[in-house]
Amino acid sequence: MENIIISGMNPLNGSVELQGSKNSALPILAAAAAVDGISIIHNCPDLSDVDAAMKILDFIGCKTKREGHTVIVDSSGANASRIPERLMKEMRSSILFLGALLARFGCGCVSAPGGCEIGLRPIDLHLSAFRSMGAVIEDNGGLLECSAPLGLKGAALSLAFPSVGATENIMLASLGADGETVITNAAREPEIIDLARFLSSCGAEIIGAGESVIRIKGKAKLHGCEHRIIPDRIVASTYIACAASAGGKIAVKGVDCAHLSPVIPAFEAAGCIIHQSEKELTVKAPKKISRIKSLRTMPYPGFPTDSQAIVTAMLARSEGTSVIIEKIFENRFRHVPELIKMGADIRVEDGCVAVIEGVERLSGARVGACDLRGGCALAVAALGAEGETVIENIHHIDRGCESLESRLRELGADAKRIKTN
Ligand code: UD1
Repeated sequence: MENIIISGMNPLNGSVELQGSKNSALPILAAAAAVDGISIIHNCPDLSDVDAAMKILDFIGCKTKREGHTVIVDSSGANASRIPERLMKEMRSSILFLGALLARFGCGCVSAPGGCEIGLRPIDLHLSAFRSMGAVIEDNGGLLECSAPLGLKGAALSLAFPSVGATENIMLASLGADGETVITNAAREPEIIDLARFLSSCGAEIIGAGESVIRIKGKAKLHGCEHRIIPDRIVASTYIACAASAGGKIAVKGVDCAHLSPVIPAFEAAGCIIHQSEKELTVKAPKKISRIKSLRTMPYPGFPTDSQAIVTAMLARSEGTSVIIEKIFENRFRHVPELIKMGADIRVEDGCVAVIEGVERLSGARVGACDLRGGCALAVAALGAEGETVIENIHHIDRGCESLESRLRELGADAKRIKTN
């Protein structure tokens, strides 16, 4: 077990290179199983969730290897359509392998996925779409056995909610379907566009990714390709929040500023001065963080739920009262009790509204990460707190954020990782 220890109140300065997007890398690794051949995936972040995806690929007969930030997947030997529960439980995105297996083999057997406990996180939209495409799904005590006795057929699917995972899973399964699949009310996140770019380079026919209606023509011959993962917009927003909380001025290199357009206005409202150029963003922290009157999480291009926790932490020391409304997940304020241990004054109403009364100072405390972004939020708060904060359960942070404490240290933070007994 390891902890991250941060002594706050050291302003950040300098630049940090942004990692590749976890939420792009995971569906693209699943997609690598749906094609036949070698995929070379650059800018693939070195994270425990990516390791988990590589383990699944290895289990089903692909060959994987990592060379720095490049992951190579040879899927030509893929021969298993069953993924054991121990691998499925390692992360939420394991469910995307079901779409990939259906596309590749016409069948798949998986158990319910794991991942951050930030809400109920059902997969009903994924499964009902597969059924509409002709899949027969039997739930044998949590084991989902999916087959398509008459083959998968392209279908017109309208999502009740623009679920990111369901959109990706349908895109994958539809690769193996006869005819065209049309997804209406599809998720529009940049990660969907990245997945479509990868699949198109593999020979798939996809139009509309990034818009609400996506069309996929199935049964194209798919081969591997070389692809570069987009930068991680959520980690970029985490660094911005870190700078705002600690003070100072930093540059985040390798960003795609267009992907950050939903979050930049919130940081500006808090008083940050942000300059964007093509591949770099600089942020200068305000002397005093201003409140944000009201902020609501929404599907892209709205404010991302994944950036909610870090902004909540940043606002803990703001001037005035801020209100944050979480509209995507039911259980996404689990960092709040931990922030309260540090002196924050935050009340959560109805599980989905956080009312933040900004306090003058936060104090270091022993706190625990409950999920990935909530864990990053504790680092944000710690950077602006007096004294030492010990963050426990940092395996959550390691699922999505590459070497957070060393990157912060390079920016001038007093941050370290220690092994515990
Ligand atoms: C993905 C991201 C996650 C992000 C989330 C929302 C990855 C690996 N993870 O998660 O970081 O927080 O998008 O931007 O990309 N829902 C259903 N039924 C379903 C599927 C989803 O009701 O079958 C609901 C969920 O409970 C949730 C909402 O839809 O309330 C959004 O979920 P979804 O967009 O599917 O999130 P994930 O793909 O799990």
